[in-house]
Amino acid sequence: MDKIAVLDFGGQYAHLIANRVRRLNVYSEILDPETKAEDLKDYKGIIFSGGPESVYDANSPKADDAILNLGVPILGICYGHQLLAHMQGAEVKHEPDSREYGLAEVEVKKAEGLFAGLDSKEQVWMSHGDSVMELPPGYEVIGSTRSGEWAALANFEKNFYGTQFHLEVTHTEHGMKMLENFLDLCQVKREWSIEKFIEEEIEVVKKKVQDKKVFMLVSGGVDSTVAFVLLDKALGSDRVYGLFVDTGLLRKNERQQVEESLKGAGFENLHVADASEMYFQALNGIYDPEAKRKIIGDLFLKVQANVSEELGLNPDDWLLGQGTIYPDTIESGGTRHAAVIKTHHNRVARIEELLKQGKLIEPLAQLYKDEVRAVGEKLGLSKSLVWRHPFPGPGLGVRCLCAQEEKYPHNHTLLENKINEELKEKGLQAYILPIQSVGVQGDFRTYRNPLVIHGDVSFDEMDAIATDVINRNDELNRVLWMCYPSKIEEMNVQKVFMTRERVELLQEADAVVNDFIVEKGLLQDIWQFPTVLIPLSINREFGEAIVLRPVQSTEAMTASFYKMNMDLVSELTERLMKVEGITGVFYDVTNKPPGTIEWE
Ligand code: XMP
Repeated sequence: MDKIAVLDFGGQYAHLIANRVRRLNVYSEILDPETKAEDLKDYKGIIFSGGPESVYDANSPKADDAILNLGVPILGICYGHQLLAHMQGAEVKHEPDSREYGLAEVEVKKAEGLFAGLDSKEQVWMSHGDSVMELPPGYEVIGSTRSGEWAALANFEKNFYGTQFHLEVTHTEHGMKMLENFLDLCQVKREWSIEKFIEEEIEVVKKKVQDKKVFMLVSGGVDSTVAFVLLDKALGSDRVYGLFVDTGLLRKNERQQVEESLKGAGFENLHVADASEMYFQALNGIYDPEAKRKIIGDLFLKVQANVSEELGLNPDDWLLGQGTIYPDTIESGGTRHAAVIKTHHNRVARIEELLKQGKLIEPLAQLYKDEVRAVGEKLGLSKSLVWRHPFPGPGLGVRCLCAQEEKYPHNHTLLENKINEELKEKGLQAYILPIQSVGVQGDFRTYRNPLVIHGDVSFDEMDAIATDVINRNDELNRVLWMCYPSKIEEMNVQKVFMTRERVELLQEADAVVNDFIVEKGLLQDIWQFPTVLIPLSINREFGEAIVLRPVQSTEAMTASFYKMNMDLVSELTERLMKVEGITGVFYDVTNKPPGTIEWE
């Protein structure tokens, strides 16, 4: 099959490139950036991805120079664009004035090759600190932005192209058209499909598992269920054993629902282990989100080892199966040059060890959620299972914030005053919350405070305010809108960790939210709806608060907050305020980036 290589220099969107190419029905593989030219001979085209580093750093990843002589088209994106120019002698510099983050406009100078059929002005998406400062020999400028004369370059004779902007993200309006043009230049056949993936993956699984069996960790979610069915199809039911761990961090009544739905889908070899006590004990006194994730991930393996011992299974005969998908790996820093955003439960150190020993099988590891769903549908799973909202493996464990101090020093009074001054004319009030949450900014992980705003503004206005205020203030990574109360007189941080009582409180609130979106017919409009419990009591001495985090996304690497009808927000808030122990409700109006979807 004809294929395209994507050299992964560690950018958060590197895998999106391969995903987009495959959507255009061309098979595409992600390869190590230092892959030798002779190993790239069978590819019809090569794409250099973005990455967090600078080409002139001694340790930054470089590509083999001989790639330039392979005679195939090359496309460089962001870091890849700078590298391609740098490899051909052009200067690349860190120019504070030419930094660009977010939307930009490109003036198309030549609507040919990569830019064939484009308008004279195109909306694109930028995220870079370095810039190409001159034209490499044999190149022409095909597009410029206000602060980047060399933003898009072409060597028409060799079919080499570079764009400073990210054409793989949906915010670049005609990014898919550009990619399509590149594939035309590569003269590649459009032969890849989901059916083909299933066919080939079944062969890969058979080859990898050989005469062994697979012990599969299932959560009842889309990814692990689809992986389970695929393994079942490849190996037969008697060689795939499912383990569902009740961590105590599931949604209300979820254990019963998952058991019923998996059994309903025909899985016979399913073992359910109640390990909730073990989880609550291990998480007692733990505050740090990364530490919590690692504990949760390690315990899955411990429970699996205990169960396999109970069942008298010989570890040498079994591989461990997981429903890991690509964003789990990339955000855990799982590719060579990517920064750690957060360690997903299925990427803890012991799992990495199994991976190295060849004892782990993850048939969906290269796919994004949208592709996993397509595989699930093709394999005949019910629509209600395939279209369930994604639910993270660590469950409510990543939605229940803990606090290690009772009183937090409020370090941000000056900033709070400054923002209040700026927002005064809009009639808005701002507060900085004395807690922190995880975000992702410029290919890196951040741990910062949220800003709360209150007042009569539309979600569209809040969207603009949130983007602006976070871009300008390094101390912040999220903005929330205050649904209840209408004024904060006092905030008390509770010194609390993960306990059964707190998780039960969150389960109640989460069930209110889920029932509400089903009742109002919003399930399909929203991609995922985390309900987050924060240890903050508002205008009362004790109690907690809820953050609503509905988002729209296609593959979880980027997301926009969902703009619910305001009357519905009020109705939902009213219902949540009836849950005993809840003292306030906030609505997260942050996109990803800069905020992640989950709070931890
Ligand atoms: P973030 O919070 O990183 O989430 O924007 C992206 C997607 O991944 C899910 N998620 C996880 N899934 N184990 C999982 O199986 C994890 O540790 C984990 N952390 C986040 C999250 O729910 C969202 O869909």
